[in-house]
Amino acid sequence: MATIDASFEPVRPARRADWLGRAATFCYLAIAAGQLLFTAFILAFYYPSSLSGNFAAWNAKPLIKGFVAGDASGNLFFAAHVLMAAVITFGGLVQLVPAIRSRWPAVHRWNGRLYLLSALALALGGLWLTWGRGTWLNLIGAFGISLDALLILAFAAMAYRTARARRFADHRRWALRLFAVASAVWFMRVGYMAWGIASGGAGIGKAMDGPFDIFLAFANSLLPLAVTELYLRAGAHGTPAAKTSVAALLGVSGLVILAGSAGAWMMMWSPYL
Ligand code: HEM
Repeated sequence: MATIDASFEPVRPARRADWLGRAATFCYLAIAAGQLLFTAFILAFYYPSSLSGNFAAWNAKPLIKGFVAGDASGNLFFAAHVLMAAVITFGGLVQLVPAIRSRWPAVHRWNGRLYLLSALALALGGLWLTWGRGTWLNLIGAFGISLDALLILAFAAMAYRTARARRFADHRRWALRLFAVASAVWFMRVGYMAWGIASGGAGIGKAMDGPFDIFLAFANSLLPLAVTELYLRAGAHGTPAAKTSVAALLGVSGLVILAGSAGAWMMMWSPYL
């Protein structure tokens, strides 16, 4: 990511302050803090139960359809899904660190392959959990997360193709888009918490069918994707005013993400550890 790269360059005195780069670095650090908490929760809550075969322990946490007695394939798909969830969440953060890319390119390549594989497994497995196992509370939510799965598959294919073709500028763009949509389920949790803190939960329905639920069902992937797109365009050929506006947007997004992540840790994750 060029803007984070930029923060590693020596600063020349006459150079205009790179607010877009600084804001992108801040936003990345906020995302990293929130995703590390999510990874810690998955490792502590789902790994011991899934790896030891004690699937019934999943249901200590409210789920739509976690462990179901007699449903061997559904339980195995769920186990694979939560095991891969930690790989993709942590792996995505590693992929975006410029120092790792430049100093240890082999780590970037191998972690990239693992990231693409886990993206594929989570998107296809998630589609099966939703439509094959019938894990949904309302159809709009099911369509929203299915759209996310399709975006993950499309962007993963583009990130892979451009890397193979050594078109690295294009690869960076598709990889960032992939990161945005592959983080959607995490954005959804953080979004619920940030909205809950700000509004007291207005528009959230009992079966996740209120106006805010419907908005977030699609916004969990489309909103981060839109912000990523603005960032890419401002960085490539934005006017100084456009760069400053996108920098402000990234700064505010980072603050919202920090608040939502703290809320998710306190309300959604730590109570079950
Ligand atoms: C790509 C990144 C993804 C990650 C990191 C991820 C992570 C998770 C986690 C941690 C859970 C356990 C529920 C919880 O404790 O909150 C879960 C459940 C689930 N996921 Fe995903 N997931 C991803 C993608 C998807 C996609 C694309 C779909 C659908 C197309 C999907 C469908 C589901 C379903 C249906 C469940 C079961 C929910 C329940 O029973 O309450 N996931 N996922």
